[in-house]
Amino acid sequence: MKAIVQDRYGPPEDVLQLREIDRPVIGDDEVLVRVQAACVHPDVWHAVSGRPYVLRLMGAGVLRPKDPVPGMDVAGQVEATGKGVTRFEPGDKVFGETFTELQWRNGGAFAEYVSVPQGALALKPAGVPFEQAAAVPTSGFIALLNLRGGGWIQPGQSVLVNGAAGGVGSIAVQLAKVYGARVTGVDSTEKLHMVRELGADHVIDYTQEDFVRQGKRYDLIFDVASNLSLADCKRALKPKGTHVLIGHDHFGDAVGRILGSVPRVLTYFALSPFLSQLKNPAPNAPVPTLSDSMVVLAELLEDGKLTPVIDRTYPLEDVPEAMRYLRAGRACGRIIITP
Ligand SMILES: NC(=O)c1ccc[n+]([C@@H]2O[C@H](COP(=O)([O-])OP(=O)(O)OC[C@H]3O[C@@H](n4cnc5c(N)ncnc54)[C@H](OP(=O)(O)O)[C@@H]3O)[C@@H](O)[C@H]2O)c1
Repeated sequence: MKAIVQDRYGPPEDVLQLREIDRPVIGDDEVLVRVQAACVHPDVWHAVSGRPYVLRLMGAGVLRPKDPVPGMDVAGQVEATGKGVTRFEPGDKVFGETFTELQWRNGGAFAEYVSVPQGALALKPAGVPFEQAAAVPTSGFIALLNLRGGGWIQPGQSVLVNGAAGGVGSIAVQLAKVYGARVTGVDSTEKLHMVRELGADHVIDYTQEDFVRQGKRYDLIFDVASNLSLADCKRALKPKGTHVLIGHDHFGDAVGRILGSVPRVLTYFALSPFLSQLKNPAPNAPVPTLSDSMVVLAELLEDGKLTPVIDRTYPLEDVPEAMRYLRAGRACGRIIITP
């Protein structure tokens, strides 16, 4: 099969090549998916470039990528199933992540075929194009987990999504509306029309205004851009409000090359028991699994409550160009690869 392959870490345009390789062999619990669409997003860039370096110790491969084929969000058709697969059969149209655990590694989606654990997949709603379905899995899961998982969002609340036009933020805006919140979306000038179209009640251009200093306080700040200090959070949150940190590395520009945003995230978790505004798991709220979340996301897609925005589609051989476009930061919606 044709696949995008890397033998070493580095800038995507230097290390990625189109090659003929063997089709993946599926395990008992896995499904072989014929890929129709896969998604390019910042976590793919991290896995390909090997930055921050700490991710290489977290399962991606120390000296070179353990898994040579990048890509971790997929939509396609089931070609074959392992002995233990009960939920899918050949011919089913599916979408999902290509693994169930750590995200910062290559997942094999930039190829004609990929093997996927059944627990990471859901049936794709019939009316939803493969390209849109492929835009959802990892971003939708992180948004659902962080908005709904802890029971933080309630109807009528005011929610601010910082980085609302990105892959994660655009889904968070739509989910927050589904859960009955009044939503403010913050992003850069030329992306705000899309944030409005997604249903945001109010938009703020971060290049012109600083929402932290506008005197308005929110029940929940879903912080994809991840540039707020603790003082900012206190100023912009209601006393019982919640700050949810997603942790954007801005392609290594905002944080160190070695540890990335890991120190910030660890500090955050260490402080969260003492500062009620930092996200603290609500004791009785059920935390959705990936498998359950994929089913919820499929229902939202089917009902038209979640509509992923696609900025551009590239053929498989143009993955390096797609990664360059991602890095440039001008995409308004997701970048999709079609083999
Ligand atoms: N699969 C996933 O997508 C996934 C899953 C888990 C975690 N994450 C993490 O979530 C982060 C975001 O992912 P993403 O796919 O949503 O990224 P993205 O598509 O690049 O979106 C980020 C958005 O934030 C905006 N932004 C940048 N600086 C800002 C600021 N100071 N204030 C407000 N908005 C700002 C960007 O706009 P401009 O570029 O125009 O400034 C962009 O629209 C990544 O670091 C990733 O590691 C992603």
